[in-house]
Amino acid sequence: MSSLEGRWKTLRVEIEEGIGWVAFHRPEKRNAMNPTMNVELRDVLEVLELEKTAKVVVLTGAGESWSAGMDLKEYFREVDQSPEIVIEKIRRDASMAGWRLLRMYSKPTIAMVNGWCFGGAFCPLVACDLAIASETAIFGLSEVNWGIPPGNVVSKALADTVGQRKALEYILTGDTFTGKQAAEMGLVNKAVPLERLRDETIALARKLLAKNSVVLRAAKQGFKRCRELSWEQSEDYLYAKLDQSLLRDPEHSRDKGLSQFLDEKSFKPGLGSHGG
Ligand code: COA
Repeated sequence: MSSLEGRWKTLRVEIEEGIGWVAFHRPEKRNAMNPTMNVELRDVLEVLELEKTAKVVVLTGAGESWSAGMDLKEYFREVDQSPEIVIEKIRRDASMAGWRLLRMYSKPTIAMVNGWCFGGAFCPLVACDLAIASETAIFGLSEVNWGIPPGNVVSKALADTVGQRKALEYILTGDTFTGKQAAEMGLVNKAVPLERLRDETIALARKLLAKNSVVLRAAKQGFKRCRELSWEQSEDYLYAKLDQSLLRDPEHSRDKGLSQFLDEKSFKPGLGSHGG
């Protein structure tokens, strides 16, 4: 989509066959997230949300990095002397881009982790619905190595995805781990050889593209919200989401699916999506 090309300084955006590819693009700085990137990422996500041709969004990185986390110079050292209100805004921008928008984003999101992934980059990593990594990508909670506890909601992101032992091991030691280990601990869905990473991501995105987008949105938002609700609240909320998805689905996907299974006997819901 040419109107999106060259529009942002720190991100590259392309739409191809229903997939919106967003690449962190500061390869010379290992795609570290500076305040400009945080503002731009929010903008990109808002643009893609309304872009009909992008139905699944993939977050990846230019060059050999996914992202080396927050920019230690521009996000930390250079803002230290700023007025408190400016620090507040810079932190809010990082949260908006890094997880607030992404967590409940209206389209499915996949983190395609092609290389280095450190510290603050764990926020968008975990906020994406799914994640695929190169087996050789290197991850680390390096904050403790340079003198702070993990910033923003990195600890919350870990607590939400991996068990306490692994989380604290990496938070406290600052040791690195590979994409393969990230898959074993459930931080990413799977790890594949780097040369297969893009194809595997496209295959996963295509599975999502074949589903009803209204139903996918209700399913993911329901799952994420109910992790923080009681059982009774979850029941109310999830039924409300289910009814909302029935009301908002212009394709009447459920009725078609039920009819194809029960009346026409032309498909089996246990084995794949119905033909629409
Ligand atoms: N913030 C700011 N600059 C960063 C950065 C970060 N998080 N990560 C890398 N860079 C910069 C380096 O300062 C260097 O800049 P320069 O060319 O102006 O000197 C450039 O990116 C290349 O980095 P370099 O360290 O030479 O690359 P490498 O491939 O040898 O090592 C890393 C890659 C990711 C292991 C290493 O850069 C690193 O440890 N980065 C910090 C990771 C981190 O602690 N992130 C947590 C932030 S919350």
